[in-house]
Amino acid sequence: MLMGHRAIFIMRKTSGGRARATSARVAVHPPSTQLRRTLAETQQQLARAESATRLVDEFLATLAHELRQPLAAALAAIEIQKQSPRPERKERARHVIEQQVRYIARLVGDLSEVSRISRGAIELRRERVDVRELVREAVLMIEPLFDERRHQVVCELGRDPAWVSGDGVRLKQVFSNLLRNAATYTAPGGRIGVALEGDAGRVRLRFRDNGAGIPADALERIFEIFQRATSRTEGHSAGIGLAVVRRLVELHGGTVTAASDGLGRGSEFTVVLPRG
Ligand SMILES: Nc1ncnc2c1ncn2[C@@H]1O[C@H](COP(=O)(O)OP(=O)(O)OP(=O)(O)O)[C@@H](O)[C@H]1O
Ligand SMILES: [Mg+2]
Repeated sequence: MLMGHRAIFIMRKTSGGRARATSARVAVHPPSTQLRRTLAETQQQLARAESATRLVDEFLATLAHELRQPLAAALAAIEIQKQSPRPERKERARHVIEQQVRYIARLVGDLSEVSRISRGAIELRRERVDVRELVREAVLMIEPLFDERRHQVVCELGRDPAWVSGDGVRLKQVFSNLLRNAATYTAPGGRIGVALEGDAGRVRLRFRDNGAGIPADALERIFEIFQRATSRTEGHSAGIGLAVVRRLVELHGGTVTAASDGLGRGSEFTVVLPRG
């Protein structure tokens, strides 16, 4: 008796056509631990590759969908411009074309930004920066939109500097994105607030508004590319801003999260950065 070996019976056809049972001893070793591990790893890699392919497919389908609408609008406006004899209609069509092309350009620009950050192709120019200054500058950047929508903006940034080791340009990009969202997704005459808190190790910034709010099931999803909280969108909403925000904050070793009591009940975005 051979330990660890199994006897296998093979049915062979004899020349006369009848089957004859032959006993053969074939050595079948149980798979070694190493082999099992390699097999499991290969299966995992395969599953990851399949899921990555699916994501790329979904991404391309979504991108095509996102581009279709502005392209269709621009093409329709080009036809009007070619065919309408009325100068005011021609001028309106020219305006539509310009708006749509600008939107497509922004979409492509934002996407290449996300891709560069994800590939690690951007380098942070870190220096010691006072977050309060950056917030003030970001508010100034968005001020025309706040004014246009008659929002009231209150900043509570405290008296002491809030130092972090960060890239001032990129952090301003984070704050201005959050402020632009607050201005966009809050009905005219709304209230928007930025409050700075923190402890010995971290700086915490809260961006609050009393606007459209976000349903609970969208609070995490909105940080992904092309994701909106609801299908209802105002103006040209590409669904990329928060993906850039999250990647930039994480590059700084920080976190960003969203909270809301639900639709119509305002939103709050919290950015936490390590002190530097
Ligand atoms: N302050 C807010 N209040 C309510 N909803 C918000 C707020 N900020 C973001 N959202 C929701 O999250 C979605 C994703 O925001 P994000 O900034 O990524 O993209 P966007 O504003 O749609 O387009 P863009 O790429 O031009 O910024 C928005 O479409 C909106 O539904
Ligand atoms: Mg946005």
